[in-house]
Amino acid sequence: MEGRQYGGYGGCTDSFSVFGFLAFILALLDLILDLQANMGGTGMPRGIRSVNNDDADTEKDSLCQENAEMLQATSACYSLLRGFLNALAAENSECANRFMCEGAEEASTAGPIGEVIANVASLNAGSWLMRVNATMFRSVVEAGQTGAKLGGCALRFSQCFGLPSAYRYPAVYRGPQLPSEVYQPLLQEIMDTARDTLL
Ligand SMILES: *[C@@H]1O[C@H](CO)[C@@H](O)[C@H](O)[C@H]1NC(C)=O
Repeated sequence: MEGRQYGGYGGCTDSFSVFGFLAFILALLDLILDLQANMGGTGMPRGIRSVNNDDADTEKDSLCQENAEMLQATSACYSLLRGFLNALAAENSECANRFMCEGAEEASTAGPIGEVIANVASLNAGSWLMRVNATMFRSVVEAGQTGAKLGGCALRFSQCFGLPSAYRYPAVYRGPQLPSEVYQPLLQEIMDTARDTLL
């Protein structure tokens, strides 16, 4: 454990955990983009989609939506990774919880795909952080789940004073929200596949 310094990432376990979580996030993102491409961005498998979509507008809408989904998924993954790195740099549990919560909250704010990513990824983040310090990070999973439900991280973890120098706020995506019924089949698919292959 020597070499670990507060306010940065130092020790072996830290780097190991960062790469572990990074690998998970990239695999998750790949998975989502894959599933989403197979479903043609409408949340419906291509085969089931209505046949009479030869007009250019439908095609264009579907492309725009595919891009919006991709952006949402990518930025949600970034927020989670940022939250994870912030938590790793935290000086106490309260701040670690707050930072993990924030990452999940930002991801969830991006929309329903972001919410799924926040749920799945905060579970995984917790398992890596526990390897670094099981005492300090004992409730980060809960904190992440709170954030995924948009539970108000700043108020919930108000006893975190002072941000480490490595801290960066985890926000990126501020695009339009897409209607939730569009996502249901895709979300179900992401959760099932993530459960089977990644957790
Ligand atoms: C783990 O965290 C606790 C509480 O924040 C701290 O007191 C302890 O020194 C840490 N242990 C290690 C090995 O860094």
